[in-house]
Amino acid sequence: MLRILAPARAALRLSSARSAPLAMPSRAVPAASTSALLSRPALLAPRLFSTTAVRCSNSTPPPQVDLKGKDSAVAIGNKVHLRWVDGTTSRFHNFWLRDHCHCPECYHSVTKQRLCNTFTLPRDIAPKSVTLTPTGVDIVWDHNDHKSHYSYSWLQKHSYDPKMMDPCKPEGADKITWDKSISSQLPEVAYKDVMESDKGLAKWLNNIHVHGFSYVSGVPVTTEATEALANRIAFIRETHYGGFWDFTSDLGHGDTAYTDIALGSHTDTTYFTDPAGLQMFHLLHHDGEGGHNLLVDGFHCAKILKEQYPQSYRTLSEIRVPAHSAGDASTHIVPSPRRNPILNHDPVTRELMQIRFNNDDRSTLDHLDPDQVESFYSALFDWNKVLTDEKNMLWTKFQPGRVLIFDNWRCLHGRSSFTGKRRMCGAYTNWDDYRSRWRTLNTSAEQLAEGL
Ligand SMILES: [Fe+2]
Ligand SMILES: [Zn+2]
Repeated sequence: MLRILAPARAALRLSSARSAPLAMPSRAVPAASTSALLSRPALLAPRLFSTTAVRCSNSTPPPQVDLKGKDSAVAIGNKVHLRWVDGTTSRFHNFWLRDHCHCPECYHSVTKQRLCNTFTLPRDIAPKSVTLTPTGVDIVWDHNDHKSHYSYSWLQKHSYDPKMMDPCKPEGADKITWDKSISSQLPEVAYKDVMESDKGLAKWLNNIHVHGFSYVSGVPVTTEATEALANRIAFIRETHYGGFWDFTSDLGHGDTAYTDIALGSHTDTTYFTDPAGLQMFHLLHHDGEGGHNLLVDGFHCAKILKEQYPQSYRTLSEIRVPAHSAGDASTHIVPSPRRNPILNHDPVTRELMQIRFNNDDRSTLDHLDPDQVESFYSALFDWNKVLTDEKNMLWTKFQPGRVLIFDNWRCLHGRSSFTGKRRMCGAYTNWDDYRSRWRTLNTSAEQLAEGL
């Protein structure tokens, strides 16, 4: 192994190392994809998730560094330049590299937490030596002779100049948007599989990730079995409605959910700063008529809105709407921020991330500029037109023993009015806890650790 020593901030070249290029066990993005990514102009415009996005994959060709290349690793000024065999050069700031050292002294491999005290590092820290090894880059720093190792796969994954992995790429399998035609192939798993194996649980959660909902069949018609099912994902989210619900239309809480009237498509808890992530329903008993369940794919409808009414899509992405829950005497909940758009996008990727829409829970619109009033209502009517297009409405009848769970950040739900006694139970799950469980069951620990 050839070690090149150079004074701080002087040009540092690695003239040769191993005798042949080495394939590194990791991910890569072809040069064409990289340049396409860098030239993409639409990063700042709101966008729907891409249904054709490439899955974060390990199957792409591994990155390679020519260990014999004269310019494979060069320290210039306050950066280390690393050239990949495809000709792409990644530039990393010296301080950034030192700050991200993952040696046992600097990073706890179990807790995945930083041990390094960033604020004790000299801002002008520089390499004393840079060495290419078969697995990555070794650097000895001019401060305390600290030694760092960066794997090629980690460097490529986190390369920021240029970005080599698409920072806008959604996690996991592509989402599949749907309309009512999905009724012929409803995503479903068996209770037994979910309760008895992590594989069954992973399939269930991936159904929710891909389709925004899933049924579970063969559930014992008891609150205990339903609660146990919810707990397979994570602890149940407690709210002012309690934890696990077991309710009838007795107006037990001051909310229309606790009545027998019809409810239009909505997402729940738009009045929370952090709306509930998942919602589970299980019909335990119904001796009357009606009470059909409505499910609408909000992402599918947003896509239609964007195609057919692009100005309305922009309006609902920008104008913020206040919401509240104040039906119980002891409750007066409003979110922070007080107002949020109906269509919420990730501020970095600009992807549609969350639908927050419940027309019944909307507070007084007294914050709009006068010229926003008409455009807001026009957009709201366009949105309602898409949501209530019967092509987009999936009507089903709940059955005891068959649980429905859905992504409350994506799917809207509603119901028809009903008669008779109807007993439902269910639960909310926090978004972060659902995503954490899905992530750990669908991605290897090594891949997750490398992504941090
Ligand atoms: Fe609801
Ligand atoms: Zn270290």
